[in-house]
Amino acid sequence: MEKVEIYDTTLRDGEQAPGCSLNVEEKVRVAKQLERLGVDVIEAGFPASSPDDFKAVRDIANEIKDSTVTGLSRCMKHDIDACWEALKGTENPRVHVFIATSPIHMAYKLKKKPEEILEMAVQSVKYAKKFFPQIEFSAEDASRSDRAYLAKVVDAVMTAGATVINLPDTVGYATPGEYGDMFRYIRNHVADSDRVCFSCHCHNDLGMATANTLASVEAGVRQIECTVNGVGERAGNVALEEAAAVLYVRKDVFHVMTQLNLKEIKRTSNMVSELMRSPIQANKAIVGANAFAHEAGIHQDGVLKDPRTYEIMSPSMIGLDQTRLVLGKHSGRHALVEKASELGVHIPDHFVNAYFQAFKKMADNQKNISDDDLVSFFKNEKISI
Ligand code: KIV
Ligand code: ZN
Repeated sequence: MEKVEIYDTTLRDGEQAPGCSLNVEEKVRVAKQLERLGVDVIEAGFPASSPDDFKAVRDIANEIKDSTVTGLSRCMKHDIDACWEALKGTENPRVHVFIATSPIHMAYKLKKKPEEILEMAVQSVKYAKKFFPQIEFSAEDASRSDRAYLAKVVDAVMTAGATVINLPDTVGYATPGEYGDMFRYIRNHVADSDRVCFSCHCHNDLGMATANTLASVEAGVRQIECTVNGVGERAGNVALEEAAAVLYVRKDVFHVMTQLNLKEIKRTSNMVSELMRSPIQANKAIVGANAFAHEAGIHQDGVLKDPRTYEIMSPSMIGLDQTRLVLGKHSGRHALVEKASELGVHIPDHFVNAYFQAFKKMADNQKNISDDDLVSFFKNEKISI
């Protein structure tokens, strides 16, 4: 199977989310965990943006051995110089230069003509080539750019020396069909396009980041840019754990593999959530507290008989110990008996109904029932065994 590279931008795009900033030491901790998780590329920050970001990128570059480390740079010599100063200590440095190519960004944000943007992109890639073996070029807002112009830019930066071409859906506007088509168009309209690796970068403004990412993989993209827990600007970036889980669980559809150690996913997710003080919603796919929890009696009964009835993947895949059976008013007898035995209590068959009636009464009055509540319930309930 072909490999898809995982490019993690939690420490750059993710950290741009309001209230999610990390100090240098915290960033190094996250980078080490990302290395354990097995990501191919760590975007460690934007060195020219602040002295702290510079220091974080430099410290991470000096510490990390197994992943490529990269830093963000505008199409400016000063930014590329800052990236080189921060990254020169790493084995395989990569610079990530970007400039916007959509009419709205070029006219209103950058106030430049398309030819000027093209020239800035080419000159920056040529300049970066003096230092870096790997150069990633991003056409910001690619999904809202004119395709013929985008192809011209991609062709020119490839000739100048870019090795990875990233075409972001910067504002989370594209649909999966459109996003995949954009990559097909560019790959078909640029000479020798297989010389470079194409990369996707999806934001989640309309909730389509995961679908768009996967559509681009189907269109030949072989690098996915993502963040842990989907943190990032506005509604965030595509969540690493979602893209990775889909490629693993549905390899029958995508026929690609990653080098991730999936068992590190839960640990990485918890660390990022805690350090960024950004709680994970309970029903978040893959890493939410309820992602492997079952409360309804019919579901609990099915999972106890065979987990495959209601689980398409095992919690151990992401490093979780086990499926969580949550006891509540929707639960059934089978789950109550199982939970009791987990807590060291054996309920003889002829007492199951009595316990179950008593439990239902408690569950009607209490929304969340913890293991401690159950221990006292089994201890205090006046059903003699
Ligand atoms: O969303 C975006 O376009 C970006 C670029 C800098 C790659 O984050
Ligand atoms: Zn982004």
